[in-house]
Formats: sequence, C-alpha cells, structure tokens
Amino acid sequence: MRLTGTPSWLTLKRPGAAQHEVRREQPNAPARPQRVWAIGGGKGGIGKTFLSTNIATVAARTGRRVVLVDADLGGANVHTCLGVRTQARLDLADFFQDRVVDLEKAAIDTPVPGLRLVVGALSSAGTAQTSREQRDALMSALRRMNADVVILDLASGMDRSTLDFFLEADEHCVVTTPEPTSIENAYGFMRAAFFRRLGRLMHDSPVRDLIRESMDQRNDRGIRTPADLLREIERHDSSEGARFRKVIAGFTSRLFLNQVRNSEEIKMGFSIRSVYKKFFGIDLDYTGYVNYDDYVWRSVKERRPLVLAYPQSDGALYIRRIVKKMLEG
Ligand SMILES: Nc1ncnc2c1ncn2[C@@H]1O[C@H](COP(=O)(O)OP(=O)(O)O)[C@@H](O)[C@H]1O
Ligand SMILES: [Mg+2]
Repeated sequence: MRLTGTPSWLTLKRPGAAQHEVRREQPNAPARPQRVWAIGGGKGGIGKTFLSTNIATVAARTGRRVVLVDADLGGANVHTCLGVRTQARLDLADFFQDRVVDLEKAAIDTPVPGLRLVVGALSSAGTAQTSREQRDALMSALRRMNADVVILDLASGMDRSTLDFFLEADEHCVVTTPEPTSIENAYGFMRAAFFRRLGRLMHDSPVRDLIRESMDQRNDRGIRTPADLLREIERHDSSEGARFRKVIAGFTSRLFLNQVRNSEEIKMGFSIRSVYKKFFGIDLDYTGYVNYDDYVWRSVKERRPLVLAYPQSDGALYIRRIVKKMLEG
C-alpha cells in the first residue's frame, strides 16, 4: 500500500534528479567531514534498530564510508539485522574495558560494501552503564574513525549513556510511531536529553540550581517544560534568560515517524512538531516517515536490510527519501 497525502516537501526533486536516486558504489567519493548521527526515541520495539540498519545501508550505497555502532549496550542486535556472525569479535565491552583502544580494529565488515559495524557489548553482561570518561573516549574514538558517516543505534530508555550518545552526535534523530505510548516516551526522552544539555551548558550559571530542580518532572515550582523554565529564569535573571534562549536555539533534532498506516498518521508528525515548538522552543525537523510494512519483519527474519531484500517495497522507498534528505541537508 502506498500512502497518500505525502507532503510536498518530501517529494521535492532537484531538476534532473531521479526520485530516489542513490549513487551505487563509488569508492572514490570525495572526502567529506565526518558526521555522527544518533538514532534514539525512548520506547523499545518502535524500529530504531530497523531504521538505523537500513539508513546505514542506504548511506553506504551512495559511496559513503559508513560505520554503524550498536550502542544498545544491554540488548545489542544490529548484527542480526545485518546477518553478521559475532563469534570471537571485538565489541564495545572490549573497548570500555580497555582491551581494544583502536575502534578500527573492532569495526567489522558487513555484507553491505562500504558499511562496517561496531558490535554492541556482547561479551559481558553489566556493561549497560558507562562512565562519563568511557563515553567521552568512545565519542572521540568514533570521530577519529575512517568514515564519512557514523550512525549510533541507541538503546531504549533514557539512561545517562543513551542520553549522552544522543547529545554528543551531530544529528539527533528521534523515532516514534503514531501510538500515544511511543509519542509519550519520545517526549520524555527529549525532555530528559534537553534538560541534561541545559544543565551541562549552564553549569556555571547563577540559575543552575533552578535548572537542576526543574529536571525533576514533579518539582514544586510547577516547571514542567523548558518553556516554563525559560519564563522562570527570565523572572530571576534576564541576561541568563537570553543565554538560555541561545542554548535552546542551538539545539536541533530530527523526527522519524515509523509504522504509519494512513495519511492521518503521517500528519501526526506535524502535530508533534508543534508540541515540541511550544514546549521546548525548538524546530523539530520532520525528516520523514516509514509506513507499516509487512516486508519489514520478513527482512528481519531473513537477516537482511529491507532496502536490499525488498528494494521495491514502500518502506525501502521511504527510507531512501529520509537518507537523501539527511545527506543533502
Ligand atoms: N515500519 C515497520 N513496519 C513493520 N514492522 C516494523 C516496522 N518497523 C519496525 N518493525 C518491527 O518491529 C520490530 C522491532 O523493531 P526494532 O528496530 O528492533 O525496535 P527498537 O530498536 O526500537 O527496539 C522489528 O523487528 C520489526 O519486526
Ligand atoms: Mg534496538
């Protein structure tokens, strides 16, 4: 089923460009600055891993050197979606325990040319939590990698590791389905990430205690959203209010709506966008949506990315659109 009601901005064509043009293997593609994309969203089972794997595959097929990192430290499973065997592989647990310092050695080839995988923590339980130093070390190691794009498939939930991986990336991508539970968790995830970023950037601010207090959703001052917090800060200290506004303006995020079944659900992306504008003051970029597609679970069962197993499926088409927008934007 092809969904109707596609917003015009999703079908924009450059003159002469094919609709979902992807450049095939181009090993000599020009070097571009490396970008880190983090794909998160709060709730489990909404398609973060499915999207990460397929987005990474499409990006690699354009000739970019792509590294996909399974940053789901407690439940790594990207390797399965890509059909990669993991026996005797180095993984993130090895990295965190200093058994490997060079991630190039841990990155393994996948069946997709140009796409390498850093597998999640498989070798030991209990590595789901990382220290600040470990997270910083991972991010700088990733930025040193021989890659044009590094994609982080994040865990569900909003523990510190997940929030920091999300915040440290260049592209913050939030996945949700049209279900209220998923939308609610995405909002909670974003709120937690947002307050964490504020707390960090304004750690030396005279209003830092106010920010810290407001991180607790049930704080006594009735601060529920960053917009409430901004009002409160402006009341206390107008110059800090201006600084706070700048921090908000510097935060951008993308929205991927997954498992949509009709045009009404596609439009929900715009409502979510308005809510984020109202409560966070940020312009969420509604980058794209992917339909609920039976070919998705077939591809997962076959351990192949949808975009390769069923390139003509609607899901594959929508994923190519998302990647095209991200690479051009
Ligand atoms: N667009 C979709 N259409 C149909 N099924 C989907 C879609 N996206 C995800 N799924 C199903 O949901 C399952 C869970 O997705 P997954 O990517 O593992 O979630 P997460 O990483 O967010 O926990 C997949 O194995 C797949 O079967
Ligand atoms: Mg996952």
